[in-house]
Amino acid sequence: MDFATRIAAWQQRHGRHDLPWQNTRDPYRIWLSEIMLQQTQVGTVIPYYERFLGRFPDLHALAAADQEAVMPYWAGLGYYARARNLHRCAQVIVSDWGGRFPPDASAIATLPGIGRSTAAAIAAFAYGERSPIMDGNVKRVFARHFGIAGDPARRETEIRLWALADAQLADGAGQAVDMAAYTQGLMDLGATVCVRGKPRCERCPVNETCIARRDGRQAELPTPKARKASPERRTGMLLLQHDGKLLLERRPSPGIWGGLWSLPEFDAGLDAAAACKALGAAPGAVFELAAFSHTFTHFRLHVRPWYVVVSQAPAALERPWRWVDAAGAADVALPAPVRKLIDGLFAAGLPQDVMAPAA
Ligand code: ADE
Repeated sequence: MDFATRIAAWQQRHGRHDLPWQNTRDPYRIWLSEIMLQQTQVGTVIPYYERFLGRFPDLHALAAADQEAVMPYWAGLGYYARARNLHRCAQVIVSDWGGRFPPDASAIATLPGIGRSTAAAIAAFAYGERSPIMDGNVKRVFARHFGIAGDPARRETEIRLWALADAQLADGAGQAVDMAAYTQGLMDLGATVCVRGKPRCERCPVNETCIARRDGRQAELPTPKARKASPERRTGMLLLQHDGKLLLERRPSPGIWGGLWSLPEFDAGLDAAAACKALGAAPGAVFELAAFSHTFTHFRLHVRPWYVVVSQAPAALERPWRWVDAAGAADVALPAPVRKLIDGLFAAGLPQDVMAPAA
């Protein structure tokens, strides 16, 4: 049996069958799941996926919504460009495709935020199209099985991997294969058997032809990325409290946390009271909260948060600002670490008379 046929047959017997985005051919539902799953694990995605579909059950509901209404349904999942692109994509499908999802992988790949592999996955699941995928997990399966060395994120390695992916479906290979089962099988194999740490080769349907296994090179393939230290950034955050409410500021889009609500920031080297005055607010008690760090794809952010009781609020809301109480904060789209900070503070009951420890 060829590679694709063995993977598909294995998926049908041993793969995952009851994920909420399986057993549908609705491209909208499949597309949403593939975007959510791009950087996020299945277990995290499931509740978000169901909540999102409850609010935006079809493409038209999503296209008709404001971006502001969409972000709360993504808040906490991270990589917010995915949500902004998803929304833009829904509008493009309505305006350029008459509201019908594009009919094949190459058309799907022209949409915002959809690369070749995601387009192929959607087309395989929704239409049964014979178009191969090559995401992070599948790169590992192919690098091991076909013995391909070189960092899979590098262009030349990627080209070889894509050529191999094509070859598994070309010239009579995998001729009768069920594309949904093959595509899901590659994902399932990468997630459950051909895993990064210690692969479970005894359970693998293609172990007899696997080069890494033959040569005992499972730990060397795929070739690990040459590690670069990620840059560090620092910022101060202001939790300005007035009348039992905190001031939130909407993050500019595009950008980190773009489109979400967060806290006003200031240069970490400056004084919090001065930063507060610069916003037009008169600071009263100032208190430094516990610092924390958050890791993004390309850098690490170190945050020093300051809680400031404001005796006089800014006269006008000149920036994209809003004051929220605990219930209001629960309703807005906040990045996960900011959510934690704000919820913790409201849970403690917004202290009035704390003073800064000598800095
Ligand atoms: N990761 C990306 N797509 C997936 C899918 N359809 N099922 C499970 N994990 C995935």
